[in-house]
Amino acid sequence: MNILVITGSAHKKGTSSYLTDAFIKGAEEAGHAVSRFDAAFKNVHPCIGCDSCKKNEQTCVFKDDMQELNPELLNAGAVVFVSPIYYYDVNAQIKAVIDRFYANNSVLKGADKKAVLMLTYGDETEESAEGAIASYKGMVKYLEWENAGIVSAKGCYVLDDVINSEYPKQAYELGKNL
Ligand SMILES: Cc1cc2nc3c(=O)[nH]c(=O)nc-3n(C[C@H](O)[C@H](O)[C@H](O)COP(=O)(O)O)c2cc1C
Repeated sequence: MNILVITGSAHKKGTSSYLTDAFIKGAEEAGHAVSRFDAAFKNVHPCIGCDSCKKNEQTCVFKDDMQELNPELLNAGAVVFVSPIYYYDVNAQIKAVIDRFYANNSVLKGADKKAVLMLTYGDETEESAEGAIASYKGMVKYLEWENAGIVSAKGCYVLDDVINSEYPKQAYELGKNL
């Protein structure tokens, strides 16, 4: 299966990147083909809701790195969303990518795809992640994709926290068993 991993963090050696690596290791060991789009290092303009894509055959007015992502998105059997929590939600970098799904909404909705969410955050309880998890579940339900799993890594403020936790194993197993 083709798996597309979309990350939001600008920390190349951060907590969510560590989980991403663990997930990809498991997925590749299971024989999946994985591509990774690190949104924080890409040029993705936020959707402005101009609806030009509705009039011009899924073509967005912004000619940016979504042109690189879109073929991967359409071909993926699974889409993995990985983000640190910023103020009780996913961060802006990954949200900009998700909003730009709009240009291809008609083909993404009802497509045979799995989805995975992986979040890292400092909070010792799940409270900080509740909004992001609810948004993700709502989006997956709307798009009629299958939620294949969520890794919600609480208490992970810095890299050492996640290294010394059970979450890398969870991410690895999720990739391996997708
Ligand atoms: C702007 C900003 C907002 C944050 N907001 C929250 C928050 O609402 N709840 C929380 O538990 N941690 C919050 N954090 C902490 C990060 O989620 C945490 O450090 C995470 O591990 C960073 O992931 P990364 O290393 O992959 O970038 C915030 C960090 C930043 C920089």
